Amino acid sequence: MQYYFKENFMWGAACSGPQTEGSKGKEAESIWEYDCTRQADKYFDGVGNITASNFYRDYETYIQNMKKVGIRSYRTSIQWSRIMNDRDGSINREGVQFYHQVIDCLLKYGIEPMICLFHFDTPMFWMEKGGFENRDITDAFADYAEFCFREYGDKIHYWSTFNEPVVVAEQGYLYQVHYPEVCDMKRAAQVAFHIQLASAKVIKRFRDMEMSGEIGIILNLTPTYVPENACAEDVEAGERANLLFNRCFLDPSVKGYYPEKLTALAREDGFLPEYQEQDIQIIRENTVDYLGVNYYSPRRVRRRSTPWEEKKLMPEKYFETYTFDGMKMNPYRGWEIYEEALYDIAINIRDHYGNIKWYVSENGMGVEDEERFRDDHGQIQDDYRIAFIKEHLRCLHRGIAEGSNCFGYHLWAAFDNWSWRNAYKNRYGLISVDLKNDCAQSIKKSGEWFLELSANNGFED
Ligand code: BG6
Repeated sequence: MQYYFKENFMWGAACSGPQTEGSKGKEAESIWEYDCTRQADKYFDGVGNITASNFYRDYETYIQNMKKVGIRSYRTSIQWSRIMNDRDGSINREGVQFYHQVIDCLLKYGIEPMICLFHFDTPMFWMEKGGFENRDITDAFADYAEFCFREYGDKIHYWSTFNEPVVVAEQGYLYQVHYPEVCDMKRAAQVAFHIQLASAKVIKRFRDMEMSGEIGIILNLTPTYVPENACAEDVEAGERANLLFNRCFLDPSVKGYYPEKLTALAREDGFLPEYQEQDIQIIRENTVDYLGVNYYSPRRVRRRSTPWEEKKLMPEKYFETYTFDGMKMNPYRGWEIYEEALYDIAINIRDHYGNIKWYVSENGMGVEDEERFRDDHGQIQDDYRIAFIKEHLRCLHRGIAEGSNCFGYHLWAAFDNWSWRNAYKNRYGLISVDLKNDCAQSIKKSGEWFLELSANNGFED
């Protein structure tokens, strides 16, 4: 079979500022430097992001290697706390200059830079004032975005406002994984709403400034599946999970309004956020130009089989997750692999979101202890990653053939990088990073294969 993609399909990879750069040259902290310097033991092997993959020092060699593995577009993020020092917006010129150098270097090597303005890295100077619980941050975020548009706008075509906004709310304010580790549905909903509002305000600035590029948002979608023999209550449980984890950002970002059923649920169960009438208008009038979709795993849900008691974990009131015999797992990371979901995402966007243009902004295979796959010549033999990418591309190809308007595929990740609580436990890159050897880089087998994939604009098998 042949799986070739349309001309100019964007073959690329993603990473983010806080996961790669290290804190050198930063004058202000984000929640990550703040937390991992104080509570290092919470992070895998006690490793925080202070050095990360040392992209701050080695960006040029990373970019040279990206070129060698066929990456044609690279999505990363600017760290708000690298370029601004406080709530009043004072500027760290060295930080501003750093991103100019990175962008210029990418362009020099013919790689299209795609810039996200926020990847989980709330600056401490805002966190001290409540972070995204504080309504004022929505204007400050728009000011920061405007600064970036003025500074880098003539070099960037693809901007995105937030990466995986639902993660900020759920991991920070429900599941207690990200700082400030709160567990409160109402606060989580308030954070989610303010992020949506901030995103719309940024889009408004972008349009008011008549910027020449396009602006989107990057959402992690977890397609929701109920058991084959589902009863009506299972279906209802699935719908609620979908509302809470997918449609909560998808609908307002693309359509400009929240699903009525979600608003009704929030009102009924007491987690409707505070808002002003004008917010609803701003959200309605400032929808995205395109969508980035991060896809890793589906969500398997059914009705609760036991009474819900733990009031704090509100979403679990509505459903429970389940596993089943024969569920395909990533043996090296513990997530379900279900490539068909990428086809379902493609068709869902085509049929329910006006066939808006979109791309896969992240999809990837995490592998624990990947060093065990390094051969005698020093190369990681990651055939499992090649198989993983192919399986997903087959499904994506089918979705595109049936009319879904997808313009690219970005692997997570260009190179091994630090991840939140898991630090360097799971490796995702096409390029390996040896932490014990001053971040020495080497190209994995998947990197060589990705070069062919992007050069041929697809593959045959
Ligand atoms: C994605 C995030 O959801 O998952 C990335 O956007 C993150 O920032 C990636 O690094 C992998 O996470 P983990 O926990 O498997 O290392």
